[in-house]
Amino acid sequence: MTPPALVPDDFRRLGHEIVELVAAYLAGLRARPVFRPMDPRERRALLEQPLGEAGAAPEVILEAFRGAVLPHPMGNGHPRFFGWVNSPPAPIGVLAEFLAAAMNPSCAGGDHAAIYLERGVIRWLMELVGFPTAESMGLLVSGGSMASLIGLAAARHRVAAAQGWNVRDDGLQAGHPPLMLYVAEEGHSCLRKAAELLGLGAASIRTIPVDADFRMSVPALRDAVTADRAAGRVPACVAASAGTVSTGAVDPLDALADICAAHGLWFHVDGAYGGFGVLDPARASRYTGLERADSLALDPHKWLSVPIECGAVLVRDGVVLREAFSLVPPYLRTREGKGFGGLPWFSEYGPEQTRGFRALKLWMVLQHLGRRGVASLVARHIALATHLAACVDAAPDLERLAPVELSIVCFRYVPPGLRGDHARLNDLNQRIMEAIQSGGNAFLTGTVLRGDFALRACVLHYATTEDDVAALVDVVRTTGAALAGERAR
Ligand SMILES: Cc1ncc(COP(=O)(O)O)c(C=O)c1O
Repeated sequence: MTPPALVPDDFRRLGHEIVELVAAYLAGLRARPVFRPMDPRERRALLEQPLGEAGAAPEVILEAFRGAVLPHPMGNGHPRFFGWVNSPPAPIGVLAEFLAAAMNPSCAGGDHAAIYLERGVIRWLMELVGFPTAESMGLLVSGGSMASLIGLAAARHRVAAAQGWNVRDDGLQAGHPPLMLYVAEEGHSCLRKAAELLGLGAASIRTIPVDADFRMSVPALRDAVTADRAAGRVPACVAASAGTVSTGAVDPLDALADICAAHGLWFHVDGAYGGFGVLDPARASRYTGLERADSLALDPHKWLSVPIECGAVLVRDGVVLREAFSLVPPYLRTREGKGFGGLPWFSEYGPEQTRGFRALKLWMVLQHLGRRGVASLVARHIALATHLAACVDAAPDLERLAPVELSIVCFRYVPPGLRGDHARLNDLNQRIMEAIQSGGNAFLTGTVLRGDFALRACVLHYATTEDDVAALVDVVRTTGAALAGERAR
């Protein structure tokens, strides 16, 4: 058979081999270094490999994968990976990717199973976090950044329409007063990127200070909205966080929703990391007001361990979302319920036409967990982070730099001789992070809080234990002592 065709028996044999390879890989992850830097020869081999003129045999390709790619994962499959907001893949999600690729539908729309599945899992997400299901609409996207971009595009559309102009016809060039977006200092960079992409410009982004707990300051927001209105600008949207990326802070959503309601602003909530935290009964009250969001970004590829990529945007008013994006050329026109038509197409609710079958992995992972399983996963991670914080608080040479609201702990190593020396502490902790990253015993990343460099550990792996947390504390302290001692010598 000519490539890309594959004889069915060869496909089966290769498939079995791959399943064995993946099963051994996943089972063996804990025994491997969390992360191992690539050497220059290994990097070059991948960067500079020429494409052969003739096709290669699948066995040869698989061997190259086994030798040159699989030994160098990012690290997020390992239970001692505490970096960024990257979870391991749920094993059933790994299998779902294979099944989804076999069916390979475009989820633009139409009368086929993938579309109804996506509608169904979107409803599950809404129900899980308490977002209204009537008249709302949602779609799966590549991640939290795309979800917020779509939410803010809907915001821009509705607010402009309320001012009597159609942003799709007029763009932003027609001399309208500027639309203002309010983002807290701790809001994710994707919110700023979205505002830039939407043409609002940096001058239209109001950066709102945070309170002592890194949550958006309500009085500062109120003042900014009032000042903008008085100056003839159009307060358009508050983009809040339900779990900031640096510390996991949940903004005071209910108070922010009140301000949005009082002033006619769109209320967007970035719940990419922390949205599912609402399922921990001990944290649920922090999320009051989430149900009033006009749009909500969620990332099942973060806390739910759905394999990357899987983000979701939920919009309260499905009609607004459709108005913001619908553009159906003749070659795509269908009639609802006729031929291939089915329900209104997803491609009318977002920027993408051809869309992957993300719903299958989400459908499988959510069913495997069940509602109770999702809640206990989230609660377990928050409990582990709370335990890590207690270990940090108990260590004389560690200092915590933020409250633990969800599953993130920010702290630093402080040897007695450096207490109060911000510059040297920042430098030391940056070097501690880098040494741990390349050391392979655990993995964490960093952030900057009020000018101080912080080591940042995010618990998101379903197999992480208290022993792993203890190992992380241990590696930070021994690495810190070694580096501080080196400097002192
Ligand atoms: C709070 C928050 N918002 C948005 C994002 C961006 O999401 P994504 O990386 O899936 O685009 C992240 C990523 O870490 C995040 O933590």
